Amino acid sequence: MREWSDQYGSVFSLKVGRSTIIVLNDRRAVHDLIDKRSAIYSDRPIEQQLEIAFGNENFAMLHATPMWRAQRKVTSQLLTPMRLDSEIARIQEAEISQLMYDLLLTPDDFRTHLKRATSSASSIVIYGNRAPSFESFWGSAVYVTMGKISKAIAPGSYLPVDQFPILKYLPNRWNAGKQRAHDSYRTMTDTWNEARRLVDQRRAKGDKRNSFIDKLLNEDIKLDVPHSYTELNNYLGAVHQGGADTTSSAVLTHIIHLAKHPHFQEKARVELDRVCRTDRMPVWSDFKDLPYINCIIKEGLRIRPIVPAGLPHRARQDNWYEGMLIPKDATVFIPAYALNHSTHKDPEIYNPDRYLNHPRLAMDYAGSPDYKNRDHYSYGAGRRICVGIHLAERTQWRITARLLWAFKIEPAVDEATGEKIELDTNAYEDGFLSEPDPFRVRFVPRSEKHAEVLRREFKEVEEFLKKWE
Ligand code: HEM
Repeated sequence: MREWSDQYGSVFSLKVGRSTIIVLNDRRAVHDLIDKRSAIYSDRPIEQQLEIAFGNENFAMLHATPMWRAQRKVTSQLLTPMRLDSEIARIQEAEISQLMYDLLLTPDDFRTHLKRATSSASSIVIYGNRAPSFESFWGSAVYVTMGKISKAIAPGSYLPVDQFPILKYLPNRWNAGKQRAHDSYRTMTDTWNEARRLVDQRRAKGDKRNSFIDKLLNEDIKLDVPHSYTELNNYLGAVHQGGADTTSSAVLTHIIHLAKHPHFQEKARVELDRVCRTDRMPVWSDFKDLPYINCIIKEGLRIRPIVPAGLPHRARQDNWYEGMLIPKDATVFIPAYALNHSTHKDPEIYNPDRYLNHPRLAMDYAGSPDYKNRDHYSYGAGRRICVGIHLAERTQWRITARLLWAFKIEPAVDEATGEKIELDTNAYEDGFLSEPDPFRVRFVPRSEKHAEVLRREFKEVEEFLKKWE
């Protein structure tokens, strides 16, 4: 998309069969259309594959219907910074204490530890249940489901029946893509019905918690539109799906780049050592005193956005922009990778310093009319901007700050030669979500004192965490 925009201009269109695709690799166009005319651009494309895979029950893919509006309203209310920073902050910090302890014990399993932690951070908010291990239901179910979904909706993996309608007549038995979509819907629905069953079981014992689902089931909060059993379960599952994989992929990006560029680790440590010394791990309330961590988060999301092409939007009516017609039903992309790489100097170079003048969180820049100062586009834009943005920013910050405080992140060493193994920061899995290919790094405790704090802090929260199991 970036190369095409060099050739055809920053706003360009593609014709694919009957469909029109519009790409907005242009800050001003994103602001003028997606932010300011969001009533027109907040819908999702009409695609048979998406409809089968999600059964019109996935929040992120719902059309801009009253059901989507109801889900968006309630989700935004429950994921406000105020709520995240008061009611559930302690359990979130405790969760990351377990991650640090796990890394101390078995650092080579860092990918699994991280996936457990991000899944747990999200399932606590949504279901009031944590994942003590990756293998537990709350640790891994979301990844199994996301695996099926990614396969079902990977671009190019299914027949373009909406663009070339004649393909609709192909019998199902020859249409492997369509079968994957059905399989994906079944897995998704079974998983989130099971999550509901586990919550109902807990609540039946009188154990009601401070979570999203508890608030809905208690009717403390009501959705404006009635939801069937499966619709409600798949809605909550969709929020969890939006949260777990994306956040762990983002942290993997931070880790691989930091391991490759140790001098940026040292810059963060100057602040960390001044604020926390060797006495304690950083906590979210240190945010203002540790501005470099925020620069690291932004730079990782900029250089390797987790959803490189963004989620597609759709124009609900014909609309003109600077003499160009954007036809009704056109699919509109906010191409995060292209935008992030077109709007910064030396875009291929990893350099968190570029954000030294952006001390605030991503939503502050996304929501500002000063679109030229936006930090990056990795959370999308307009009314469909990532609804979990506040949680995503907090979880990444907490993990990255603690990792850098506790460990030196170094490339692994080849056992045979004793040489450091070169890290390839360009080796990324291609697909719907972008995550670094498996890589090896070492987490070396900075001192025995630091390791002692990790053990002590885990001991302090161990009992408290059990209450959420
Ligand atoms: C680093 C982490 C994350 C990234 C990079 C990310 C990115 C995105 C992007 C690009 C979109 C589409 C925006 C658009 O259509 O313009 C999105 C939507 C969404 N995200 Fe996230 N996300 C992250 C974390 C989370 C978390 C933690 C949650 C929930 C707890 C979440 C839940 C959702 C949901 C439900 C949507 C659909 C919103 C809608 O269609 O109205 N995400 N996210």
